[in-house]
Amino acid sequence: MTLEPTRTTTAGAPAKTRVQRRRRYLMCRPAHFEVVYAINPWMDPAKPVDTALAVLQWERLRDLYVELGHTVDLIDPVPGLPDMVYAANGATVVDGKVLGASFRNAERRAEGPAYLDWFRANGFTTRHDPEYVNEGEGDFLVTDRFVLAGYGFRSDDRSHREAQSFFGRPVISLELVDPRYYHLDTALAVLDGDEIMYHPEAFSESSRAVLRTLFPDAVEVSAADAAVLGLNAVSDGLHVVLPEAAGTLAEQLRARGFRPIGVDLSELLKGGGSVKCCTLEIRP
Ligand code: ARG
Repeated sequence: MTLEPTRTTTAGAPAKTRVQRRRRYLMCRPAHFEVVYAINPWMDPAKPVDTALAVLQWERLRDLYVELGHTVDLIDPVPGLPDMVYAANGATVVDGKVLGASFRNAERRAEGPAYLDWFRANGFTTRHDPEYVNEGEGDFLVTDRFVLAGYGFRSDDRSHREAQSFFGRPVISLELVDPRYYHLDTALAVLDGDEIMYHPEAFSESSRAVLRTLFPDAVEVSAADAAVLGLNAVSDGLHVVLPEAAGTLAEQLRARGFRPIGVDLSELLKGGGSVKCCTLEIRP
């Protein structure tokens, strides 16, 4: 992908022509989804979850990816691992190299090996067993130039150096400060190349400065859109799949030449996740 310095975001300027790139995603059907423990502020075990509806909503997301031309692989859900549906946390894959996940909370720990097993069984020969806690693409997001890496709630920032030496790509550490946005992928999303969107208040003052320096043209997302997990979005360079409640954000994206597609994942929101959480990108 070529990088051109562009200034297409100011009012009146024509929106950039967007180009879709086909992706490969790994997903996990929420067959055993429920909220029986609380490890983030979104989770309330007293609130009922409709597992059948969760499956239906998830199937619509999977079907949408297929309709858009993407490949969706599936990993078998494991009984007793209700959060396994949040496939983004299962690993980070860059240049076909698989960095396994290691979870902070005991309730999710068995997911790490389950995902690594899938990659072993599916022919991924370059795999790394993590030394430090990292929750996969929950806290690692990949742009053309960088791997952006979150810490503060889940991933150990020593995992950032581990990722840098494994992938051979520069890793930028970003500190999260709002417990509602406990994973990087709840506060920031990659739209295309080196173009991102994020909610500034989710980051420490110094990390905001880093983001402003590296991404002066980023889409800044409002508190209201962040609070419906609008940033938990998946872009293929043209289509941006995001929670349908993030209406203003959808307009911001449209003005940039993207095609926002709103989806309803109300049941999975009860676990503290949405579109991106359910989607692990496998980068060849
Ligand atoms: N209940 C899960 C947890 O707290 C939600 C994970 C959401 N995944 C994500 N990529 N942000 O770990």
